[in-house]
Amino acid sequence: MSRTPFVAGNWKMFKTVGDAEMFISGLLPLVSSTEGIEVAICVPFTTLGAMVDSTRGSRVQVFAQNMHQEAEGAFTGEVSAPMLSDLDVHGVVLGHSERRELFGETDAALAEKVPAALEAGLRVILCCGETEAERDAGEMETKLRRQVEAGLSQVPAGRLADVVIAYEPIWAIGTGKVATPEQAQEACAFVRGVVAGIDPAAAEAVRIQYGGSVKPENTAELLALPDIDGALVGGASLDPASFAAIVEAGRS
Ligand code: PGA
Repeated sequence: MSRTPFVAGNWKMFKTVGDAEMFISGLLPLVSSTEGIEVAICVPFTTLGAMVDSTRGSRVQVFAQNMHQEAEGAFTGEVSAPMLSDLDVHGVVLGHSERRELFGETDAALAEKVPAALEAGLRVILCCGETEAERDAGEMETKLRRQVEAGLSQVPAGRLADVVIAYEPIWAIGTGKVATPEQAQEACAFVRGVVAGIDPAAAEAVRIQYGGSVKPENTAELLALPDIDGALVGGASLDPASFAAIVEAGRS
């Protein structure tokens, strides 16, 4: 089955509205003719509205970086899925390792967040990944299985293939230490196997991104691997030229 490649930039906690407008006016002309690939930017809450407006009619989708599982309620400081879709946001990244490690995001919360996002009409990138210590201890597969099975556990059967899964080895995030093609392919194939254990047809359709020190120079090699269908890009997505070069490399 052919899966449309999907490259997403994760800005993390970078860019004011002014910075974001500068970025998008630089990016849009560079990606206007790119076909055969989906492109998204995952931006801070404060720039969502401006980026939705500035990308309207373009091929760039706008994603949030987190949300609460409930539609509304007494949850000070939180934002819900219906609030994001009300802004015409396209999707949301859930379970990034920084949220899991620094902000106590749990598999139990993610089990509720993923279906809540889909229900509100949002697309989802669900992140998973192991630390270096877990990899060295031979615990990578156990961790990936637990994270993927939990995140997908309450997704309705017909919607599984709508979730994009990002495999991001934590030791490769922001370190410049990219996984080797063999490591990346092995882990992404394992993740697809976990999805196959839930629904074999969905596993064929589900897109799996690699993330962790993706750069214009290593994108083509990673995306050519059989089980890698895209990239989740942090640092290299902050500059329009570098992000556009990754998009371009991802479609070839
Ligand atoms: P990086 O971040 O590309 O800067 O390594 C990836 C991510 O955290 O999604």
